[in-house]
Amino acid sequence: MKEVLIAESAGFCFGVKRAMNMARVELLEKNQTAVYALGPLIHNKQAVAKHEDMGLITVDRLNDINQNLESKVIIRSHGVAKKIYDEAGLKGINIVDTTCPFVKKIHDIVTKGEKEEKEIILLGDAKHPEVIGINGWCKDKAIIFKELDEVKNYKFNKNKEYLLVSQTTMNEKKFDSIIEYLKGLDLKLSIKNTICSATRVRQEEARKLSEKVDVMVVIGGKHSSNTQKLVKICSEIVDTISIETKEDMQDVNFAKYKIIGVTAGASTPDWIIEEAVDFLKRS
Ligand code: F3S
Repeated sequence: MKEVLIAESAGFCFGVKRAMNMARVELLEKNQTAVYALGPLIHNKQAVAKHEDMGLITVDRLNDINQNLESKVIIRSHGVAKKIYDEAGLKGINIVDTTCPFVKKIHDIVTKGEKEEKEIILLGDAKHPEVIGINGWCKDKAIIFKELDEVKNYKFNKNKEYLLVSQTTMNEKKFDSIIEYLKGLDLKLSIKNTICSATRVRQEEARKLSEKVDVMVVIGGKHSSNTQKLVKICSEIVDTISIETKEDMQDVNFAKYKIIGVTAGASTPDWIIEEAVDFLKRS
């Protein structure tokens, strides 16, 4: 049998694990209630398919929910804008709120900041659902920056008060370089570092594990950015194979490797990791 070392932080983070458990409970206890997810429950097509087999219906808008039936809608761990809660309330749709508590905290910070008439600076990707959601808690008025260059091109007003938050998965180096630049501008600025450590911990572990093994197997969606970042980190150190499920390894020759390391992106369920590890032990 091959030696397979699994990173402790492989797979779901606290917030995703919590959200998936809540979704599962709803589906197991739903009886006649229709259970919807507003957007794909998670960025993993195998996990989404499994939940859809249990009766989950994925919709992009609240308008797509059949209001003639008793229904519930699951808000994903990324969170959504305040107006979605308001709209669901008006339509009489019950909400199952699986917003990660760390994201919810950012909603509270920007809500308060906006009430205090501060200009909200939000660091992150304007197209990401988490960022769209956060912006929706400060009346969509946040100034959103992804890159330092965008910050440098912005005309700040020294008479205004700014409050800065960031997307939870923001790269820490990028965050630090933007903060350093902003501090040099002598603005009235309060900074809340709202980066979640789960991503950093997972990346650091992947790096350390890569140094101990002959090959790394990274499990997660081909379109999952945090998974592909893990692939990049590992491949800079050791041979690295990127897979979505164990089926992707059928043609890989593991004979030349003695010790195999395994990590997985934040949206990879445990059962996919376990299946891959079983396969690798017998490879
Ligand atoms: Fe929450 Fe951090 Fe995961 S913000 S969803 S625990 S990456």
